Amino acid sequence: MALRVAVIGGGKFGEVHLRTLRQLQWDGLTELRSLCRLNAEALERQAAEYGVRGYTDYREMLAREELDAVTVCTPDHLHREMALAAIDRGLHVLVEKPLDTSVAGCQRILEAAAAQGVLLQVDFHKRFDPEHRAVERAVRQGRLGRILYGYAWMEDRIEVPVDWLPRWAGHSSPAWFLGVHFYDLVRWMIKSDAAEVVARGRREKLKSELGMDAWDSVSAHVTFRNGAQFAFQTSWILPRGFEAVVNQGVRLVGTAGLWEVDSQDRGSRSCLEGAGMQTWNSNANREYEDRLGRPRLGGYVIESIEDFARNAALVKAGTPLADLAGRYPGGEDGREATRIAEAVHQSLATGQIVTL
Ligand SMILES: NC(=O)c1ccc[n+]([C@@H]2O[C@H](COP(=O)([O-])OP(=O)(O)OC[C@H]3O[C@@H](n4cnc5c(N)ncnc54)[C@H](O)[C@@H]3O)[C@@H](O)[C@H]2O)c1
Repeated sequence: MALRVAVIGGGKFGEVHLRTLRQLQWDGLTELRSLCRLNAEALERQAAEYGVRGYTDYREMLAREELDAVTVCTPDHLHREMALAAIDRGLHVLVEKPLDTSVAGCQRILEAAAAQGVLLQVDFHKRFDPEHRAVERAVRQGRLGRILYGYAWMEDRIEVPVDWLPRWAGHSSPAWFLGVHFYDLVRWMIKSDAAEVVARGRREKLKSELGMDAWDSVSAHVTFRNGAQFAFQTSWILPRGFEAVVNQGVRLVGTAGLWEVDSQDRGSRSCLEGAGMQTWNSNANREYEDRLGRPRLGGYVIESIEDFARNAALVKAGTPLADLAGRYPGGEDGREATRIAEAVHQSLATGQIVTL
């Protein structure tokens, strides 16, 4: 029997969840049942488009629908209450990154999931990039030697805080919105937790020029328990004319070698009237038509959501959760990425080095 699934949050990224779960429905893996979001007009449109029942109250949806799993795609600071409510009902849950904006909140969620015996997965999709998988494997096989240092960067064009997230960019930051992806990725690649964090940030453009109470950029330096030192640069104020919505990369240097992955360097570019120069990271996201001419999405952004659905379907069919342990980004991973982001904000606020 297909995995009965609902989505909470139908905004910019909720749409990606809906499309992914619908294409899995075409394949017979899922049955997309319902969607909850606040804007009634948008809800009606999406409910019709995806053939689901619509709700504006997620508690009502959870009470009424017969579900196996839920994906949570609401603003970061709301994930906890929705994840806990779904777990309480014994549902498998995929939570968008960050799992929660406090370590204590993450701990509550992961303890609740463990107590209920349900799958808790966090959408850290950078782990699904084949280039990143190659790095993780090489590090695990010792081919880079002992990792000494590295850096990672993730930057968005300014339309992300200004046009996409005008209601909650102030609750977030480049560290929460972008940094957690790479805090998790590096932690996963080098198999070590953070020991010490120091961060500095700028509030020039969004706050001073545009009146939004948000950081422009956050630079964090993290020393991991194995001694590796990483610099993480995040920002969301790249000009609208920049060649891609996202610019990102990671570089690791060890005693026996180095590895670099740069998302702007993947060889696919276009220049179309009205759209300017565009660089495509088709590893992340690509649109194509399937054999029946239906528009499908591919790439690691999609595979990460699919991975959750496949894991949940396996567990539903009787596979013990323990058999999947360590094979997907779970609650502990969510908590450790949040631990770094929380320390980053503590250091931003106090100017101090934070020891974890
Ligand atoms: N994995 C990624 O690369 C990626 C990319 C973008 C966003 N995200 C994450 O996805 C999440 C959503 O981001 P977004 O850009 O789609 O935000 P958004 O503002 O576009 O959408 C938020 C959605 O949540 C709904 N919502 C808000 N409060 C609600 C409530 N009380 N009950 C029910 N629904 C509620 C809104 O109606 C809206 O549909 C965030 O956690 C964000 O960090 C992840």
